[in-house]
Amino acid sequence: MKKSIEEHAARFDEKATEYDESKSDEYHACANLVVERAAPAADDVVLDLATGTGAIALAIAPDADRVVGRDISEGMLEEAERKAADKGIENVEFDHGTFREPEYDGPADTESSETPRAPTRSARVDIVTSNFAMHHLSDPEKREAIDVIADLEPRKFVLGDVMFFGEPDPDEPFYSPEVDDPATVGALADAFTDAGFSLTAVERVHDQVGVLVAERCPTAADVDEAPAEE
Ligand SMILES: C[S@@+](CC[C@H](N)C(=O)[O-])C[C@H]1O[C@@H](n2cnc3c(N)ncnc32)[C@H](O)[C@@H]1O
Repeated sequence: MKKSIEEHAARFDEKATEYDESKSDEYHACANLVVERAAPAADDVVLDLATGTGAIALAIAPDADRVVGRDISEGMLEEAERKAADKGIENVEFDHGTFREPEYDGPADTESSETPRAPTRSARVDIVTSNFAMHHLSDPEKREAIDVIADLEPRKFVLGDVMFFGEPDPDEPFYSPEVDDPATVGALADAFTDAGFSLTAVERVHDQVGVLVAERCPTAADVDEAPAEE
């Protein structure tokens, strides 16, 4: 990580109120792809890491049961909460958490939650999303984060981010070496497969921006848990 978590949090606190203005076409294309690829079912719980002002969380919420957003910047989280209230979206919650310590122990059960959860499944997460943020971590830190996400056992992880499809080029948009540490698509693919995911889609938005969809290979425990066929 080129800057500490505190430095990144302070940077985003400062820009939080203007963050949503003047995003690039590629940012919007990437965010739209993350939302499209997440495609939650009505009873799914979604965890959006580095949620920022809630672009992904708020777009996904109408299709999911609950969406939980985590971020390190209080300013960005306040904007996300304000937008949720303005839009009347009640099945989202935002709080502090990092990629490597998401502080996730399940969504709060509220009256708006349509699917009552059995206590043993309270910390379940079906889909993890993240957009335009993991490039702040170094490659070993990204691996740690991907392992933490895999341990939550989502069936799918959709990552939109700055990533290199070719040679890194700081003269091209999206890569600022003084604050960013993007990975190559190959390094991310290896980290996903080493964590037990299968990479099921690679979408190139720009030579330095893409969306990866990783799906979890079913484990023996999943097979044991599956209801027996009649
Ligand atoms: C460029 S914004 C993206 C926000 C949002 N996902 C979006 O698509 O608009 C990057 C976000 O990552 C957050 N962030 C940076 N490092 C983080 C970390 N280690 N853990 C969690 N969030 C982090 C920042 O606070 C900021 O809100």
